[in-house]
Amino acid sequence: MSENQAKVIAYIEENQAKLIAGLAEAVEIPSVSGDASFRAEVYKMGAWLKNRLSELGCEVSSHDLGMQELDGQEVQLPPVIVGSIGKDTSKKTVLVYGHYDVQPALKSDGWKTEPFELVHDKESDRLYGRGSTDDKGPILGWLNVLEAHQALGLELPVNLRFCLEGMEESGSVGLEEFVVQNKDKLFHDVDAVCISDNYWLGTNKPCVTHGLRGIAYFKLLISGPAHDLHSGVFGGVVHEPMTDLVSIMSSLVSPQGKILVPGIEEQVAPLSDDELKVYDAMEFSISDIDNSTGSKSTISDKKSDVLMARMRNPSLSLHGIEGAFGEPGSKTVIPHKVTGKFSIRLVPNMEPSKVVEAVQKHVESEFSKLKSKNTMKLIPDHPGKPWCTDPKHWNYEAAFAATEKIYGVRPDLTREGGSIPITLTFADALQKNVLLLPMGRSDDGAHSTNEKLDLSNYIKGTQLLGTYLYDCLLYTSDAADDMQCV
Ligand code: BES
Ligand code: ZN
Repeated sequence: MSENQAKVIAYIEENQAKLIAGLAEAVEIPSVSGDASFRAEVYKMGAWLKNRLSELGCEVSSHDLGMQELDGQEVQLPPVIVGSIGKDTSKKTVLVYGHYDVQPALKSDGWKTEPFELVHDKESDRLYGRGSTDDKGPILGWLNVLEAHQALGLELPVNLRFCLEGMEESGSVGLEEFVVQNKDKLFHDVDAVCISDNYWLGTNKPCVTHGLRGIAYFKLLISGPAHDLHSGVFGGVVHEPMTDLVSIMSSLVSPQGKILVPGIEEQVAPLSDDELKVYDAMEFSISDIDNSTGSKSTISDKKSDVLMARMRNPSLSLHGIEGAFGEPGSKTVIPHKVTGKFSIRLVPNMEPSKVVEAVQKHVESEFSKLKSKNTMKLIPDHPGKPWCTDPKHWNYEAAFAATEKIYGVRPDLTREGGSIPITLTFADALQKNVLLLPMGRSDDGAHSTNEKLDLSNYIKGTQLLGTYLYDCLLYTSDAADDMQCV
């Protein structure tokens, strides 16, 4: 380990209170991208980051992405914050991506603490708060690395570029176009990309990740009567939108997780014996899932089935029904208009357009079987493709070496079930290797109540990001990115 690398690690270790205070400031801004009433907070978070990056020595610019329609209103999209530090052409240039928006959270959802307040539980040594792991902790990790260098008067080992967005949790609207437009401008000198926005596979062993599932999100709208009706007066008299919707939604997926829409599972890349061996060898047990879900509810008890379900198979989840009666009590209403929401996680070799086509055909056929006089409309969101890359590249070598230095163990190489829509755009538009280097653990509860980041993951994760930048200098192999997934 180089002298500077050791100094940076020691600085991070010795300044924990300061680093926690930085994360607390970020968590206090409720930058929820999916709710128009929070949009001002998302802008505030972008401005906070712009200011911090500039204090830490970056040239920073804020890029407007135009307008979007949200909750029936036209609102301005949050800006992309682009930072740049270092212009030494003899050094490698690493592009860091992160998102500064978060999922919604209300104390009444079941949080033990205020969601937008970072609470350090001293007994468990965990930091609770919305965004602690997804994705403010990792973003702060990068800022902490800059701070350590500034405080120690050290030059960074690589040139760094930052691309921080405020719409990831809502589909990264506008970002793809922005990255493509700037591939030869803001991002012209990038050699590799590093994203810290995922989690370890379990709770003990770190990992390095080379694949993500894509996502196709759908809204299915059924409407009939002009307004809500009394079921005592109209029950059995009219076609009920909710009955139609529930019937169609139940035709999408079986309780065993099998996707029932024809033409979807047929697109999945076949499984080879070699690939199966990879899952058998991974350090993982069903209890890792049980710990994360707080239940015993896995569909299969076989390790490789569970891993494949998460990493290499598609899934269809039903998320909710807008317009349904969801309050406590026994209101005898017939909702006049309901919107079912569901999504399909996409894997190689699924084609998003073919998935949308197959879903459209299926819901039309199911709806026609109902002989209902209601009307049905399927509204697909812009889908995100799956991403998978060949890890035989210096970017991955650096991540492996850095993880071994910080955690004393060779990390697992994993693929992830979640989606980060811009990952594939970076790979395709910039034609550079993309790496996912996680900070948090599988039980952090991203998107859930009581989201947390263990203090040790925050501190060691920050050290890991810093160490990775130094280890980028150790390797040169630049294997062709041939989309090998195993
Ligand atoms: N950090 C997650 C992505 C993730 C989730 C990685 C699980 C690994 C495991 C990210 O913030 C996220 O939640 N993305 C959304 C994207 C969607 C809204 C397009 C997702 O996966 O649902
Ligand atoms: Zn995230």
